[in-house]
Amino acid sequence: MQLMRSWLFVPGNRPRMIQKAPTLGADVIVYDLEDALPSAEKASGRRLVAEALEAPAGRSLRYVRVEADPEPGLEDARAVVGPGLDGLVLPKVSDVSLLHRTDAALGALEAGAGLEPGSVRILAMIESARGLLAAPAIAAASPRMVGLFFGAEDFTLDLGVFASEEEGPDEMLYARSAVAVAAASRGLVAVDRIVPEFRTLEPLAADTKRARRLGFGGKGVIHPRQIACVHQSLAPSREQVEKAREVIQHFEQAHREGAGTLQVEGKMVDRPIVEKARRLLRMAEASKSEEYEL
Ligand code: COA
Ligand code: MG
Repeated sequence: MQLMRSWLFVPGNRPRMIQKAPTLGADVIVYDLEDALPSAEKASGRRLVAEALEAPAGRSLRYVRVEADPEPGLEDARAVVGPGLDGLVLPKVSDVSLLHRTDAALGALEAGAGLEPGSVRILAMIESARGLLAAPAIAAASPRMVGLFFGAEDFTLDLGVFASEEEGPDEMLYARSAVAVAAASRGLVAVDRIVPEFRTLEPLAADTKRARRLGFGGKGVIHPRQIACVHQSLAPSREQVEKAREVIQHFEQAHREGAGTLQVEGKMVDRPIVEKARRLLRMAEASKSEEYEL
């Protein structure tokens, strides 16, 4: 099972952070050539990121977030497509036309670099009202699509929400759910918004658990401390693992005895519940427990 739980954003102009990134245990590194990069540092940023991709890959997948504007975005892509690149993160995707264009451009770049056609994958960021309404089509736009990311800061900016407004736990519930459902409709991973607070981890842990309940399998992170917190918050708890084992055991026994439905501790158990229990165990197996301190 390829886990894509933590997507660590690393500014493309910070050599120290670029050097550290492969050692931090993130599932995916996202070298950022978009928002985090002042335009004066664009050329040197592209060079730094291209160099980083030439170094041997650690355990992390390596993606690059290119600029939203298609022309400089394609320039960014040209600078980084090569054997070390796993995919691009496309910001501010509002309809499928950008994806079709990027798809074609990547095909040519792959051919030029001697790569398998389709090997460079795409994570599309949904961060506007238009993007949200087009999310199902965006998820289906290309076989390169690996997932959808919910970009909350730009999304709320688009919606006219004030930054200072107090956030409740159900904030952006509709938008987050819509992104998770659109991703699932094509079997893609849904990656939830970043939590800017990194000194204390409680807000991130709570937000990640909520995201998991909505169907997200990943979370954007901006600081090394956030990585293990996300992995642990997405992993099933020991209690959930025990429950899942129990459900499967009872189900298999009932099955042997010819019964289709059964009860475990006063709750009805049937096929989808058993399937979820099996998936939970696979997830628990795949995500080794990582300790972190709140
Ligand atoms: N990737 C890799 N390494 C990082 C990192 C990141 N995103 N964020 C911090 N680090 C490293 C630092 O270099 C530092 O290592 P060092 O002491 O060995 O040099 C260590 O982790 C601890 O960092 P800390 O001092 O706590 O934070 P900071 O003040 O250096 O950086 C931020 C704080 C927020 C500026 C930084 O985490 C950051 O730039 N994050 C990414 C932001 C981003 O990409 N935003 C746009 C996309 S949403
Ligand atoms: Mg943004």
